[in-house]
Amino acid sequence: MAHIEPILSAHEIAGIVERLGKEISQAYAGKRLVLISVLNGSFMFAADLARAIDLEHVRIEFLGISSYGDEYKSSGVCEVTKDLAKPIEDEHVLIVEDIIDSGTTLTYLLEMLAVKKPRSLKVCTLLARVSTHLRVGIDFVGKVLGNDVFVVGYGLDNKGLLRNLAYIGEYHP
Ligand code: IMP
Ligand code: MG
Repeated sequence: MAHIEPILSAHEIAGIVERLGKEISQAYAGKRLVLISVLNGSFMFAADLARAIDLEHVRIEFLGISSYGDEYKSSGVCEVTKDLAKPIEDEHVLIVEDIIDSGTTLTYLLEMLAVKKPRSLKVCTLLARVSTHLRVGIDFVGKVLGNDVFVVGYGLDNKGLLRNLAYIGEYHP
């Protein structure tokens, strides 16, 4: 039987989301913002984050991307499973991610979105690993995570499952 050790309660997640919402509201004060929720992992975080952002002009778009396969390590290959429905040219764009691990997915995303000529392109992630946090430029980070910890819940999955947990836990197979 798999064992899940809670590391972030629903209440703690709410606190992090609240803080990120404030940071983002300040950073984009008086501007139009397009949030891009990277599916599937960020759907729950993006839904809560959007409600924590206090700006008048916010658009929410979804971009499906798969990079992990069913393994615990990044496959290194990214595939778009659902493309953006509307243009983002000239818009301030904020990518909303669940977790940034090796940074492969993010690098791919930044390159494919830059081609669409946004006015600005920044990144908000709920979780980032110690290693990636230093390597890649991430603008808004919820919490930095150890390198060997595999987490599930609050949108994060193991083989497509456990996204429905209201908390985030370390997964021990
Ligand atoms: P990267 O391309 O190596 O940065 O991997 C990022 C993607 O890997 C994330 O969007 C997740 O889908 C997945 N991922 C990385 N670490 C975890 C984890 O601990 N739990 C669940 N998914 C993870
Ligand atoms: Mg993901």
